Amino acid sequence: MTSPNGDERGSAELSERGPLTVGVAGLGYWGPNLARNFAAIDGCELKWLCDADPAALARVAADHPGARAASELDALLSDPSLDAIALATPVPTHAELAVRVLEAGKHCFVEKPLATAVADAERAVGAALRAGRVLMVGHLLEYHPGVRALKELADSGELGDRIFYIYGNRLNLGRLRADENALWSLGAHDVSVLLMLAGEEPEHAVAHGESYLRPGVQDVVFCFLRFPSGLTAHLHLSWLDPHKERRFTVVGSRRMATFDDMALERKLTVYDKGFDEDARTYGEYITRSGGSFSPRVANVEPLRVECEEFVESVRSGRSPHSDGTSGLRVVRVLERLQRSLESSPVRPAGRTGASTGAHP
Ligand SMILES: NC(=O)c1ccc[n+]([C@@H]2O[C@H](COP(=O)([O-])OP(=O)(O)OC[C@H]3O[C@@H](n4cnc5c(N)ncnc54)[C@H](O)[C@@H]3O)[C@@H](O)[C@H]2O)c1
Repeated sequence: MTSPNGDERGSAELSERGPLTVGVAGLGYWGPNLARNFAAIDGCELKWLCDADPAALARVAADHPGARAASELDALLSDPSLDAIALATPVPTHAELAVRVLEAGKHCFVEKPLATAVADAERAVGAALRAGRVLMVGHLLEYHPGVRALKELADSGELGDRIFYIYGNRLNLGRLRADENALWSLGAHDVSVLLMLAGEEPEHAVAHGESYLRPGVQDVVFCFLRFPSGLTAHLHLSWLDPHKERRFTVVGSRRMATFDDMALERKLTVYDKGFDEDARTYGEYITRSGGSFSPRVANVEPLRVECEEFVESVRSGRSPHSDGTSGLRVVRVLERLQRSLESSPVRPAGRTGASTGAHP
């Protein structure tokens, strides 16, 4: 078994020693979910919990009495019996902490996005290669059975020989963040799915957005991307919206499909709708508005699938699906969209965006 770097040490050491030992750093909103999953996976031992905030640490430590607790990542880095560290710290810390984890010889799972800049993401990918350790980014939706089924549908030609366009809505009256805007916080998910479905990187990426609540932190962002194959995509990202939507629509040359993560059942629906050439009149099209069907989607927690992928990648030495390089691709697209967002026309002085209620 070889690691992604061709290094055979990591997996051999692991198989001799028994369970894969994992530490989770960052135990705010999301980290406890990682801790719960790693603790529940066969052949995996949750060995360390780490958070700079004593209250967060104590809260999660109470659920995992067998794990050791630390307020500093250094305690985990210097434990030679610890194989891997999962980072669920704030986004601006990701790349720097991931590099430290990898340079300490540990495998690293880092929450999405890998970094806030391409240069930092490249540093993390380079550190993984040099260390011969697994670097995986928590692009959760890539492990969602519904998204995987959508990808299979698109790749199988079921939607037609060409995908025309894709649009995604990730809307909510959601968690306001101060250290990242809606593009980075919400769009990291959608861009990763888009790149997975497209299988190519966009040649054109523009974004417009507005900051209504906190100056400089966009609450709503609209993105438009065009890929070399001609596929186009639109993303509407907002935490300032009356609707809670997490939906992707894929329009193919023959059929259309929707992945709706808010649906309890029928998360994936295929619509036999489109335009067919009218056999009677050359060059004319007639609408085909056939039925719809919902392929069965396995009812498993995507986060469990994601954590199992990390454990399996470390054990086998194969690259995880959302490895550092694919995480870097997502950051590359987000950075381009961010640049576009920043070059959007500045609102003229005196206009705050707040309505006076008066219409001309
Ligand atoms: N996959 C998903 O669906 C999903 C959902 C939510 C959040 N996330 C990701 O999880 C990460 C954390 O988000 P959150 O909402 O839990 O943030 P949060 O602010 O609630 O928690 C972050 C925690 O990290 C701790 N921390 C900060 N720096 C640290 C350090 N150097 N060492 C140890 N602890 C440190 C903080 O004390 C805090 O408890 C982000 O990357 C976010 O994008 C992913």
